[in-house]
Amino acid sequence: MTAKILDGNAAARHIRGQLRERVDALKARGVTPGLAVIVAGDNPASKVYVSNKAKACAEAGLHSEVHAIDGGSPERAVLTTLEKLNRDPRIHGIIVQLPLPRGLNAERIMQSIAVEKDVDGFNWRNLGALVGGHPSFSPCTPLGVMELLDRAGAALEGRHAVVVGRSNIVGKPLALMLIARGATVTVCNSKTPDLGGVTRRADILVAAAGKPGLIDAAMVKPGAVVIDVGINRLPQGGIVGDVEFASVKEVASLITPVPGGVGPMTVAMLIANTVTAAERAVTSRAA
Ligand code: GUN
Repeated sequence: MTAKILDGNAAARHIRGQLRERVDALKARGVTPGLAVIVAGDNPASKVYVSNKAKACAEAGLHSEVHAIDGGSPERAVLTTLEKLNRDPRIHGIIVQLPLPRGLNAERIMQSIAVEKDVDGFNWRNLGALVGGHPSFSPCTPLGVMELLDRAGAALEGRHAVVVGRSNIVGKPLALMLIARGATVTVCNSKTPDLGGVTRRADILVAAAGKPGLIDAAMVKPGAVVIDVGINRLPQGGIVGDVEFASVKEVASLITPVPGGVGPMTVAMLIANTVTAAERAVTSRAA
């Protein structure tokens, strides 16, 4: 079997087109959805992601602004910027690009984003709402994975989903979303003993461990749906996921490529969350 390839670029383009109508409706009411991105330090990968986010905002008709903070700045510099953005009526969504430079406490910083502007969904209140089954803003990468699965028509109820990776921004929230849809979910990580024995039982296998080549063809059940969340930069240049794409695509029924799979979906979901935040701001203003 050769897997069908799930094209994240095409899906993201389609979603941005759908969002355009909601953006136009907001603009007709005098509101341009606005996203602020804080990037601290000079991580080259973060700079690329942030410029991709700004470009996608422009394409979807959103206002966006990037606040670059020197890597040597104290945490207070980030918090002061956040306080201003929390009060700024032109800004509906705020994200702080991760990873943060050493010395900055990501947890404390994420908790300082106003909950109604937390379009990354990293605030405990938003994560708690997801745990409780009443999601408000949910993290963008797992949302993008769910959107890709739905667009591919992948059945979730009664299926066994295995998530390799346990981060707060991907593995854990994705497991909650899959549970909410009736999947039987196993969460493991790169150090799980006999990882292949676990992954081979997956109808839906999501690799989000950040380890190039972690999943090979022998670890995949024939016909499984394989979603690769990994974005690993190789020392010799180029980007690969956590899945050995060439061999696994001969075993899986559906597979996402890297690049061009989950990555563009994360950005599309960020824009969707920002548009939702702007719609809620308009509704609460009118109430
Ligand atoms: N770094 C890697 N992924 C993400 C994400 O989804 N949001 C933020 N803020 N930083 C990231």
